[in-house]
Amino acid sequence: MQTLTEKITALAQEAFAAAGYDAAYGKVTVSNRPDLCQFQCNGALAAAKQYRCAPMAIAEAVAEKLRENGAFATAAACAPGFLNLTLTGEALAAYLSDMAHADRFGVEPEAQPKTVVLDYGGPNVAKPLHIGHLRSAIIGESVKRILRFFGNKVIGDIHLGDWGLQMGLILAEAQQRHPDLCYFDPNYTGAYPEKPPFTVSELEEIYPAASAKSKTDEAFAAKAHDFTRRLQEREKGPFALWQKIMEVSLADLRKNYENLGVSFDAWLGESDAQPYVAPMLAKIEEKHLAVESDGALVVPVQREDDKKEIPPCILKKSDGATLYATTDLATMLQRETDFHPDWILYIVDKRQSLHFEQVFRVARMAGIIRDETALQHIGFGTMNGADGKPFKTREGGVMRLERLIAEITDFVRGKITENQTVADDQVDAVAKMIAMAALKYGDLSNQATKDYVFDIDRFAAFEGNTGPYLLYTIVRIKSILARAETAPGALRAPETAEETNLMLTISRFADEMTAAYRATAPNTICAYVYELAGAFNQFYHTTKILSEPDEAKRAGYLALISLAKNVMETCIDLLGFAAPEKM
Ligand code: ARG
Repeated sequence: MQTLTEKITALAQEAFAAAGYDAAYGKVTVSNRPDLCQFQCNGALAAAKQYRCAPMAIAEAVAEKLRENGAFATAAACAPGFLNLTLTGEALAAYLSDMAHADRFGVEPEAQPKTVVLDYGGPNVAKPLHIGHLRSAIIGESVKRILRFFGNKVIGDIHLGDWGLQMGLILAEAQQRHPDLCYFDPNYTGAYPEKPPFTVSELEEIYPAASAKSKTDEAFAAKAHDFTRRLQEREKGPFALWQKIMEVSLADLRKNYENLGVSFDAWLGESDAQPYVAPMLAKIEEKHLAVESDGALVVPVQREDDKKEIPPCILKKSDGATLYATTDLATMLQRETDFHPDWILYIVDKRQSLHFEQVFRVARMAGIIRDETALQHIGFGTMNGADGKPFKTREGGVMRLERLIAEITDFVRGKITENQTVADDQVDAVAKMIAMAALKYGDLSNQATKDYVFDIDRFAAFEGNTGPYLLYTIVRIKSILARAETAPGALRAPETAEETNLMLTISRFADEMTAAYRATAPNTICAYVYELAGAFNQFYHTTKILSEPDEAKRAGYLALISLAKNVMETCIDLLGFAAPEKM
C-alpha cells in the first residue's frame, strides 16, 4: 500500500505531466506550514529553472490539473511557486480506512529482505550485568523489532564476553579462594562434579576482587594471564571450571534479559569464535596484510585520506595472546560462514568506535566478509546521573541492572497504589510494565549517539514526553472502548481541527516508520508516537465521544480512536514495551 504522501505525490506527478512538465517534479511532503495547508510540493520552483519560465505559471497550471481531482479540498499555487494542498475530509478518512485494514497499517515490507546479524547486549560472563549494558540491550531490541517489521531476517546475537583476560582473573581468584577444588589439581583424573562450585553472587563478588587485586599485585596479575592462556589452550581443569562458570552465569543472564523484555536468537560468544581465529589469520596472511611490531602481529589500517590517526589493529600480542579485535574478526568469519549476512550491525558504546573502525578495515582488506556485506557500528552515548557523570548507585558503585529495574518498579508501584486504579493482584505486573516504558522510552527517545541523564522523576512521570504518558493515553482509549455500548463503525470525514489533526497524524505512520527504519533510529518512532498521543488527547479534550448522540458519528469516533490506539501500540511494540489494560 502506498503511504499518503506517496499517493499524493503520484497525483501531483500526474498533474505535472498533464500540464506538460516532467512528472519528477511532483514530489509532495507534509506541509511545514500546517496553518496554510496539509501538504506541499515545491517542484514548480525547480521546474521553472529547467523550463525557463515563471514558477508561478507552472504552479498555477499544475494546481488547475490537481483541482480536477476530487481528492483535494484545496490545491492552490502560492508565491513564489509553491503548491499548497489540502485533502478533502473524505479522502483523508478513506486513506485511514485503508490503513486500518492493511497489514502493518500500510507499511510495505522490504522488496528484497536482508539477512542481518545484529550484535547487541554484549554482557561479560561472571560480571554483574550493569547499566553500561543496558543501552545496548534496549536499543538493540528495538532495532531488531524495527528491522523485522520491514520483513528482514534478523539474527540477534548476544555476543557474550566469555573468553578474555576477565576469565583468567576469575580463575586465578577462584584458585586463591578455593585451592582445593579438583579443577586446580593437575593430577586429577576423575570426572568433574556436576554441581557448579560457585553461586552467581559468589561469582559476581570474585570478579571485582580479582580485578582490583590484579592492579596492585603483579604476581596475581601474572597468574591471571597464565590462566587466560591455559583456558585458551583448553587445558582440562581450567576449561572444565570455565564451563561451570558459564553455566551459572548464563542462567543469571537469561533471567535478567527476560526481566528486561530483551531476547536473542543466538547466545554465541567470544569463545565460539575461537575456532575461526586460525582461518581468519590465514586470510590476513594470504594477503600479506600483517606486519610485526615489537613482537606483536599488527595490521596497519591508516589511509592517506584519513583526517585523524588510526593506529594499527593488533591481532596478537608478543606473548601470542589474541585480543578483542582478533575475536571480533574471527566472529565475522563465523557469521559469514553461518549466516551469509547482508549486514552486520553492532550496537555498542560509542567509545569503542575506533575499535570497530580498525576491525572493519581489516575485514574489508582481508576479505573476511563479502564486499557486499555492510558493516556498521551504532555507537551510543552514556547514561549519566544527575551529576552528568556515568550513572552510579547512591553509594557511588556500579549500578546493577536488576537493582535499577527494581528501584524504578518500586517507584512506579508507589504511584499506582496511591491512584488506586489497579486491582491489588495486578499492581506488580502493571508497575513492571510502566517501569519498562519509563526506562526504555527514557533511553530511546534520545538520539542513540547522545549521552543522557537518567532522571527517575522525569522518566516515570505520567505527564510529559515519557513512556508512562504513552501508556496512560493508550489505557485511556482502551477504557473508552470498553465503556462504549456500541461498536466502532466507518471512519468519517473530520469536522474539527482536532479531529483533522488526529487523522493527519495517524496517516503519517508508514512514512515515519520508514524514516525510522532507514536511519535505524528508534527515536524517530518515539517522537512520532508522542505526537500521536498528544493529537489524541487534544481530540479527547475537545470531543464528547461516548455521549455523542449521532450514532454514525459516535461509531466513526470509536473507529478513529481504536485505530489511534492500534497504531500507538504498534509503535511501542517496536520500541520494546507494551501497555497494560488499566493504570
Ligand atoms: N563485551 C563487550 C563489552 O562489554 C561488548 C561486546 C560488543 N560486541 C562486539 N562484537 N565487540 O565491552
